[in-house]
Amino acid sequence: MSTVNINLSKKMFNDVYLQHDLLHDESRYMVLMGGGGSGKSVFATQKIIYRLLREKGHRVLVLRKVAKTLRESVFTELKRSIYNWGLEKLFTIPTGQSSDLYMRVANGNQILFAGLDDVEKLKSISGVTMIWAEEASELEPEDFRQLDIRLRGKTAHYKQMIITFNPISVTHWLKSEFFDRDKEGAFTLHTTYKDNKFLDEENIKVLEGFKDTDPYFYSVYALGEWGVIGKTIFNAQIVTARIAALRKRKELKKGYFTFKYANPVTRDKIIDSSIQWVDDEGGYITIYDDVKERVPYVIGGDTSGDGSDYFTASVLDNTNGKQVAVFHNQLDEDLYTEQMYCMGKYFNYALIGIEANFSTYPIKSLDRLGYRNQYVRESIDTYTGAVQKKYGFRTDRASRPVIIANLVKIVREQPELINDIPTLDEMLTFVRNEKGKAEAQEGKHDDLIICLAVAHHIREQHDMKIAAPTVVHHELPFAFRNDLDNNDGGYVEW
Ligand SMILES: Nc1ncnc2c1ncn2[C@@H]1O[C@H](COP(=O)(O)OP(=O)(O)OP(=O)(O)O)[C@@H](O)[C@H]1O
Ligand SMILES: [Mg+2]
Repeated sequence: MSTVNINLSKKMFNDVYLQHDLLHDESRYMVLMGGGGSGKSVFATQKIIYRLLREKGHRVLVLRKVAKTLRESVFTELKRSIYNWGLEKLFTIPTGQSSDLYMRVANGNQILFAGLDDVEKLKSISGVTMIWAEEASELEPEDFRQLDIRLRGKTAHYKQMIITFNPISVTHWLKSEFFDRDKEGAFTLHTTYKDNKFLDEENIKVLEGFKDTDPYFYSVYALGEWGVIGKTIFNAQIVTARIAALRKRKELKKGYFTFKYANPVTRDKIIDSSIQWVDDEGGYITIYDDVKERVPYVIGGDTSGDGSDYFTASVLDNTNGKQVAVFHNQLDEDLYTEQMYCMGKYFNYALIGIEANFSTYPIKSLDRLGYRNQYVRESIDTYTGAVQKKYGFRTDRASRPVIIANLVKIVREQPELINDIPTLDEMLTFVRNEKGKAEAQEGKHDDLIICLAVAHHIREQHDMKIAAPTVVHHELPFAFRNDLDNNDGGYVEW
């Protein structure tokens, strides 16, 4: 076959996909999640065509849940991109409403179409090198596993599954599979109609119009954020809008602290001057707004227990209640305590209040390490009735609703105080159960909510104003001193 030169101009693509160099991205799973009309499907067709022209030996499987939807959607969309690029001469495309659904490229590459409901047809397709699962929110996890298995074996070029969908539900398996953790081999991209320069005014108007008519549609199709179907305790609309506002911002720092013990055997004192921040992309502490001189901070912490394996902490600037850092990890208690110690010292010796329900170990250990700024609660001794002062915050049937109600109010009135998307995410699956208790939906967590609620609650036990600067007396350089200074032992201040 003669060689064909094709000139592809950058103008034919939406920038967001080129910015991440997705035409050449070799991740096993290329996950394009986003709102309506954000250019996901068109880009999927573009990438498929691009690869089919440059690489040989491809058999692409294009899928939807239901076979009868294929012709009107993916088949038409691919055809449109082929014609748009003036490549129709290189492709064999059957025409007619009842014709077979397939496409063949002059170089031997093939595109096959199948619905997951067409089990017999699917079975007969082998040697797949690339899959495009369109409207993947229609698929069950089991469908995805089966497809994943199909994409095995040796192929001349990298194998990839392109997954495109709208985020129809915050409890959808696609979220847990690809977004709640870093899945190996997955690249995820979030887009909205604002990323699509080709979308016409009319479509934009429809999407934006949902704002006043249908908050759910607005979240999913305009903002491209996970939709909330049931009733949540936090205002889902406000939380979703805040998540959308935070999307494009890159977090400031991710990492953890290193430090030295004065005595590595007894491990009873951390050398404060040895505490150092280490940047690490996979780090479990995220700092959104770095420490500022003389600003008082508070830290609320939640230890693992009660069905959760996470240790969490939220740091607030106590002058305004703004969330400036978050800790989120499955460490053991020792490591958690050490990191809390370092984080507290780093944030100007912050007031730390840790939940005391499941384990008082971190609270006691912080005390043993000489951390002297812990939240103090009053507790009544069950035998003597005497009021005792104890470190740590205790959530119980009386205190838990109070701190949560306070956080609900903060989210409603000042959502801009919250900077951590995983915390906001938890708010979208925080519901009231049949007994009236506010808790995470099954399979979801609330540890980030609780530590943030505790942090807000303990604020009143710490300064809320920036500390006055400490006056440092500097000795003048020798040449500027006069004799008098030396005589009375005083210095001229500068
Ligand atoms: N690269 C492009 N060149 C020309 N037109 C484009 C391009 N990308 C998107 N469009 C136009 O924008 C429209 C919406 O894009 P697309 O269908 O890819 O969005 P989507 O994210 O898949 O939307 P949905 O979530 O509704 O399926 C297309 O129908 C097409 O008209
Ligand atoms: Mg689409």
